[in-house]
Amino acid sequence: MPKITYISNAGVSRTVDVPVGDTVMEGAVQNDVDGIVAECGGNCQCATCHVYVEEKFLPVLKPIAEDEDAMLETAASPRKSNSRLSCQLHVTPAFDGLVVHTPPTQQ
Ligand code: FES
Repeated sequence: MPKITYISNAGVSRTVDVPVGDTVMEGAVQNDVDGIVAECGGNCQCATCHVYVEEKFLPVLKPIAEDEDAMLETAASPRKSNSRLSCQLHVTPAFDGLVVHTPPTQQ
């Protein structure tokens, strides 16, 4: 199972196993990882699952879809070039070792 590491804004790191097919958001919520709120339950309607993806992993991600792009503009913390909504990142075997950073605030 792919291992994903979530690093909080305070520098606290958690690594969890996330099943292929689940989302990076679900991996956080199901393992009580702080820093991902996911208010809309993964429907690309809230931007409270915003994460910063470590640059070297960007090539393994699907491109940003139009609705994700629009929602990222509403994120509480600044959008960066490596910003993604974790509910839109469906885990594949290539995600093993993925590192994401949670932003200072989600709301
Ligand atoms: S959980 Fe709401 S946009 Fe991702």
